[in-house]
Amino acid sequence: MERIMDVIHQRRSVRAYAEKQPGESLVRELLDAAVHAPTAMHLEPWAFAVIQDKAVLKRYSERAKSILRAPGGAVGWGSAGRAPHDHPAMLDDPAFNIFYDAGTLIVICRRQGGPFADADCWLAAENLMLAAAAKGLGSCCIGFAASVLNTAAVKRELHIPAEGAAVAPIILGYASGSVPEVPRKAPEILAWVKP
Ligand SMILES: Cc1cc2nc3c(=O)[nH]c(=O)nc-3n(C[C@H](O)[C@H](O)[C@H](O)COP(=O)(O)O)c2cc1C
Repeated sequence: MERIMDVIHQRRSVRAYAEKQPGESLVRELLDAAVHAPTAMHLEPWAFAVIQDKAVLKRYSERAKSILRAPGGAVGWGSAGRAPHDHPAMLDDPAFNIFYDAGTLIVICRRQGGPFADADCWLAAENLMLAAAAKGLGSCCIGFAASVLNTAAVKRELHIPAEGAAVAPIILGYASGSVPEVPRKAPEILAWVKP
């Protein structure tokens, strides 16, 4: 049990990767960890696309950058919203790859709608990222990829059902260096109701 606490504290978002790729059996182990997440009404709404082709990832990255830079591309930046054209400067950098040149992307998708389908996919995503950390792999969730992965063309290419969606894009690989901890604020406790 202490081990899981160690893994939670040691996981980092990794943004620089070595060339070595996780093999198929390791990826399958991580997918198995993902599907052991809790799932509302036991619907198990998830399905996975695994992309281990850097040329495809580069193509998706370029497309994502142009979608995110376009007017209206700010849609999806979150409920707080952003002004049109207010995108991170890195999206203007031709050398920037939204997948940080990782060789593996796992896209956790929902096969259909439903009130908790996205929540289930995110729980699966955290299981997958913690399992990756436990296996010595780095990972990073790539919200920048959501727009391109949900275009009709990419959904078709990855066999994501039309009524489903790409929810959690996660890059994986072996970190090429150490990654410092990103500190957190202490939990803000709004209420602790006791008799
Ligand atoms: C929903 C979501 C979307 C994210 N999208 C990106 C992204 O597009 N690019 C990126 O570099 N990091 C992305 N991150 C990683 C966060 O920046 C990172 O988790 C945060 O800075 C805390 O660092 P840590 O994960 O190392 O603790 C995303 C994280 C989440 C949860």
